[in-house]
Amino acid sequence: MATINTIAIIGATGNMGSAIAKSLSKPGSYRLLLMSNDTDELAQLYSQLKEPNTGTEIYSISCAREASWEADIIIVATQNDAEKEVAEKIREVATGKIVISISNPLNSAYRQLITSSDTSAAEELQKLLPNSKVVKTFNTTFAADFISSVIDEKTADVFIAGNNGDAVKTVSEVVKSAGFNPIIAGDLSVSRTLERMQLLRIRYTMNNSYNWLAGWKILHN
Ligand SMILES: NC(=O)c1ccc[n+]([C@@H]2O[C@H](COP(=O)([O-])OP(=O)(O)OC[C@H]3O[C@@H](n4cnc5c(N)ncnc54)[C@H](OP(=O)(O)O)[C@@H]3O)[C@@H](O)[C@H]2O)c1
Repeated sequence: MATINTIAIIGATGNMGSAIAKSLSKPGSYRLLLMSNDTDELAQLYSQLKEPNTGTEIYSISCAREASWEADIIIVATQNDAEKEVAEKIREVATGKIVISISNPLNSAYRQLITSSDTSAAEELQKLLPNSKVVKTFNTTFAADFISSVIDEKTADVFIAGNNGDAVKTVSEVVKSAGFNPIIAGDLSVSRTLERMQLLRIRYTMNNSYNWLAGWKILHN
């Protein structure tokens, strides 16, 4: 029998954390450890996920270190400015594990990235977690896309960047389970491009007052 990976979602009650959790809660996919500081919201999310998916192992945990200790894959779903604090809490227990960076390090006006052009949020997280395998993904996906990953009859693409081939492959499976088409974009430094792609899309969406159900798609002949 194939082993089911355990995924910890740190910041599980946020827009992205809860959307990712819902998309991965189908029985047979993953064992989920939902971590949030907000115990009331966490209890609500737990019920929402557990009731329709009684066959899935789902646990709610209020400690990032404990959740990460038990996980094979850790998704950091907090805002970018909380990542340093989370990294410090999980560093030891995340050794050798896959850590997914979903963040877009936007300034408060959503007009620019706060990182310089020679780095990215994912690379900064890798520096904070030198013994983990940081993989960038889901940053080019809006939270709304997890409700409907098929847009205009096409499955939205989700880009993946990382330095460890096996980790990237494992994350591709996570992306597929969430309902998207995975595209391996390159090593972790490609996150610089991926984070700028999402800045472009956020600006474009806001400037045109478009809705947030929109995704990237590379079209082929
Ligand atoms: N929203 C999107 O469509 C979207 C798309 C792509 C990528 N992203 C990226 O995804 C990340 C999360 O965005 P979001 O929109 O989901 O933000 P959000 O709704 O504000 O969620 C962030 C979550 O992190 C929690 N949190 C904050 N500090 C924490 C800590 N130290 N330990 C544990 N949990 C903590 C927050 O809990 P409290 O509220 O209790 O503090 C909240 O539940 C960001 O980096 C963003 O750039 C977002």
